[in-house]
Amino acid sequence: MSQAINPNTSLSVAILSGKGGVGKSNLALNLSYALFRAGHRALLMDFDVGLANVDVLLGLSPEKNLQDLFRPEITAAEVVVPVEPGGFDFLPAASGVPELLEMDDDMREILFQKLNASFADYDYLMLDLGAGISQTVLSVAVMSHVRVLVVTPEPTSLTDTYAVIKVLHTQYGITDFHILVNQVESPADTKATYGRLSAACQHFLGFAPELLGGVRSDPALPDAVRRQIPLMRHAPRSPAAQDILNVAVKLHRIRQSRQEALRNMPVLGKIPQPRK
Ligand SMILES: Nc1ncnc2c1ncn2[C@@H]1O[C@H](COP(=O)(O)OP(=O)(O)OP(=O)(O)O)[C@@H](O)[C@H]1O
Ligand SMILES: [Mg+2]
Repeated sequence: MSQAINPNTSLSVAILSGKGGVGKSNLALNLSYALFRAGHRALLMDFDVGLANVDVLLGLSPEKNLQDLFRPEITAAEVVVPVEPGGFDFLPAASGVPELLEMDDDMREILFQKLNASFADYDYLMLDLGAGISQTVLSVAVMSHVRVLVVTPEPTSLTDTYAVIKVLHTQYGITDFHILVNQVESPADTKATYGRLSAACQHFLGFAPELLGGVRSDPALPDAVRRQIPLMRHAPRSPAAQDILNVAVKLHRIRQSRQEALRNMPVLGKIPQPRK
């Protein structure tokens, strides 16, 4: 994979969750948008190969998608759709393609060769994953530089998030996770939710994830979804948009702190083999 070496410092960020419907796609979209508005080049990738819907959030009907990348004559750049001129692009997923949910080694190799060869120019690669722990979700999470787990204060979301962390830890030895608490009422809510998750991880797994931030529950978000406009454009001063901006700033700090290490890393790492 010689073309996989990235001369720049792209940061790949996998957005995942245990429970579905917690806000991953909207957070991935609006974080990408916030980073773009701050002057960075961002690629939002819909990697929810079960139920892709970022195209709907953007009001787009793309012609090509992730599945086309398996055709030898198609390059990743041909599949990308510009969302905003000058640096916010989108790579659509394919829905209802079972092979993509449990990609075999050959498929992953083709995909990641193509992605790594084309995407080194982006500052951020935001990967919106499906809920749960399909093999594709686990692989992409392991191959990304940063893993953001979206959790809500609901107990079911907490237990499902813990389950995802446990699988990634036991199967791949990962201890590096960032927690984004969505749909909170207050900073105390964020702290309490993160505290419970962090205590469980520390107690049973021997490490604690980091807190990335909290995003308030805000009617402006479903309103933006209904209008098919990113929240950051529809209501940039809304409480949720402000919180998302703070999270984007934190992601930028993470990228800055890893500049040296990122210089010699591919955008997506090598294909992981789970521990037996
Ligand atoms: N901060 C928030 N405030 C209010 N509503 C929210 C917030 N975050 C998410 N929602 C609601 O949750 C819905 C689901 O969000 P989204 O589609 O982003 O979740 P998801 O985790 O990507 O779901 P899936 O697991 O199905 O992919 C949104 O359409 C919105 O109505
Ligand atoms: Mg989603």
